[in-house]
Amino acid sequence: MKNIYLIGFMGTGKTSVARELAKQKEMTFVDLDDLMEIKEGLAITEIFAQKGETYFRDSEKKILVGVSRNDFQIISCGGGIVMDKDNIALMKNTGIMVCLSARPEVILTRTKNYGHRPLLNVDNPVNKIKELLKERSHFYALADYNIDTSDISLKEVVKKVSELIV
Ligand code: S3P
Repeated sequence: MKNIYLIGFMGTGKTSVARELAKQKEMTFVDLDDLMEIKEGLAITEIFAQKGETYFRDSEKKILVGVSRNDFQIISCGGGIVMDKDNIALMKNTGIMVCLSARPEVILTRTKNYGHRPLLNVDNPVNKIKELLKERSHFYALADYNIDTSDISLKEVVKKVSELIV
């Protein structure tokens, strides 16, 4: 089976869904942010602070290239991975792209107690969420499937994704 790439904005549940689905399907769970932290020996916030976003995006792209060589994986991707057309092409060629989405207010609730998302460490995170969603919506629309996770449980999201890949 090809890879399943879970894409979508921060706080839409990609990592939790990927971990649970991989367990159910006996596939390999991969989290690109985790791989980046291991590779760099730094937390994501530290990579942004010390090396900058451009460096982060280059590194994210290289990690994706490496991961895409394997198959039978459920891959949780960082929310910004879709902003690079090569990344999109690679994901399309090596798997199925499933986008998880949620309303801005839901994203805010799910992300507000976590300090590990540098892009949302700002004075007005809900405005930042809306701004980024606007910038990225046409990229997220390139996914093969979209699932709105705003009003459903993790279990239900896992079931929906699972049904797409039987
Ligand atoms: C980012 C999302 C984060 C992480 C980094 C940048 C983004 O991943 O890659 O903070 O640009 O949306 P999650 O979507 O897994 O939180």
